[in-house]
Amino acid sequence: MSVKRVGIVGSGIMGAGIAETAAKAGFEVVLRSRRQETADATVAGLEKSLAKQVERGKLGEEERSQVLSRVTATSDLSDLAEVDLVIESVVEDLETKRHIFRDLDRIVGPGAVLATNTSTLPVVELAMETNRPEAVCGVHFFNPAPAMALVEIVRPLTAADETIATARDFALACGKEPVEVKDQAGFIVNHLLFPYLNNAVRLLEQGVASRDDIDTAMKGGCNFPMGPFALLDLVGLDTSVAILDALYDEFRDPHYAAVPLLRRMVTAGQLGRKSGRGFYDYRR
Ligand SMILES: NC(=O)c1ccc[n+]([C@@H]2O[C@H](COP(=O)([O-])OP(=O)(O)OC[C@H]3O[C@@H](n4cnc5c(N)ncnc54)[C@H](O)[C@@H]3O)[C@@H](O)[C@H]2O)c1
Repeated sequence: MSVKRVGIVGSGIMGAGIAETAAKAGFEVVLRSRRQETADATVAGLEKSLAKQVERGKLGEEERSQVLSRVTATSDLSDLAEVDLVIESVVEDLETKRHIFRDLDRIVGPGAVLATNTSTLPVVELAMETNRPEAVCGVHFFNPAPAMALVEIVRPLTAADETIATARDFALACGKEPVEVKDQAGFIVNHLLFPYLNNAVRLLEQGVASRDDIDTAMKGGCNFPMGPFALLDLVGLDTSVAILDALYDEFRDPHYAAVPLLRRMVTAGQLGRKSGRGFYDYRR
């Protein structure tokens, strides 16, 4: 199926990044947020990001206005009725996503593919909320979406080959490198990444080394572009705990049990970059 119009539900870090990626790739984008002010603020953020790219000579003025003209912001889910592909990217909470998939199934035209950007939750749970489980899959972008090359295409037991092909073609059209993975918590990347991030917090909690020394060690010793605490702050600590909880629910492996410090920081509102403070302070 050929995708021309893409609906994005959720305008957080990932929804905004996916909207930018898709619009730059030439797709018409309808971005839906719960409140119109947030939807408009996301478009304003996109304008800013594109203006910076023009300043740096990475984007032409003409292209900038074309990209912007392809994006519509709305608070009304009904505005997604005529899209060919939806990417849901709201908070990592199964009940919230279930609810949205029920609404999407009712609203979005019958030929469209409904995808989720979930990091860990069972995609089949969302597929089974709809009357078109064959047209539901995962399209998992990485953060920041415009910069990261990978997209995991997640195949639940219920998905038709055509759905997976549509998702894969979309990722390729966005200039990404798609990989296919079964619908198992964490898929490939988070399955391998989160025990490492969780163990870094454990080392810090045990006082084995300082935050800065752990980040320095993993950059200098493994050639990683950033250390585990900088990465946790980028991902968001609330999202990270949700990912660990989903992994723990699926595998019951203690490596996936979120370290208490991580949970306490979330309770304290120290969510990382998005709240101004996490393991590092971004308020200065
Ligand atoms: N942060 C990452 O690094 C990353 C990477 C890949 C995938 N993801 C996944 O992307 C999705 C979104 O994550 P994010 O990092 O953009 O989170 P975020 O906290 O930046 O944004 C979450 C969005 O969900 C909306 N939301 C919250 N509660 C809602 C509700 N009840 N109904 C509708 N919308 C609601 C918020 O308004 C916000 O727009 C999650 O499924 C997450 O697992 C995150």
